[in-house]
Amino acid sequence: MDDKRIRHDEQSSAYPREDDPSAYPQAGRERMILPQPISALGTGLPNVEKAMLQRMSPERVFMMGDNPGLPRMPKAPKLLDFFRLRFSEITFRHLLQSAKTALEAGQDEKIVIACLLHDISNGALLRTEHGYWSAQLVAPYVSEEVAWAIRYHQALRYFADEAAGFKYPDAYNQFFGPDYEPPEYIQQAHREARAHRWYMTSRLITIYDMYSFQENWSVDPEQFTDIIGRNFKEPKEGLGFDGSPTAHMWRTMIWPNNFL
Ligand SMILES: [Fe+2]
Ligand SMILES: [Fe+2]
Repeated sequence: MDDKRIRHDEQSSAYPREDDPSAYPQAGRERMILPQPISALGTGLPNVEKAMLQRMSPERVFMMGDNPGLPRMPKAPKLLDFFRLRFSEITFRHLLQSAKTALEAGQDEKIVIACLLHDISNGALLRTEHGYWSAQLVAPYVSEEVAWAIRYHQALRYFADEAAGFKYPDAYNQFFGPDYEPPEYIQQAHREARAHRWYMTSRLITIYDMYSFQENWSVDPEQFTDIIGRNFKEPKEGLGFDGSPTAHMWRTMIWPNNFL
């Protein structure tokens, strides 16, 4: 089977495991993983930082570098490597499905690439403020218009535009309750976007932004290789290693368990 098409949650034997300690850093020691502070905040889950610091010993250290529990990324990772090897299954399918729907509707490539990337931060980084994080993550590699559209899709999802064919998502009534009102900064972002010349680019993201996940539906990410090639500047050093203003965000997804 083509290794590149395997998703990490569907396989594991293709990668070296913990029983091959020489394949990983900090060989022979237990490597503790401290959860990210933001993931526990406000949840009632105990903060384990202090307890883990107390458990440290010469044989027990904090993890830095490749985690045997995750597929190893290539030395110079490309966009689709993150899709295959890091993104949650829901985000993987949602992004591919949105892009495919836009492509089949005959939209031009800037819309297809925007759909393919619009929720990228949900894949392996952060959900909260996902439009802003996603836009920032890809901004060095896409056109200004595509990054702008991704940023504003977060706000536009809360506001119907019947003339454009977008109604308030049923999913949002379920997610947030039917009486949910978006905060003022989201309302302000919606007003800004409406008045902007790139409004329809962002609005089209929301139109192809679908939450209907068919279980047997599959799309091969490779089918977007050419569109990515023309619309996403893959750095030759790989994402995370090109010194861009967001390289650290890509590295965070490569090594999500690094202590520092
Ligand atoms: Fe979104
Ligand atoms: Fe989405």
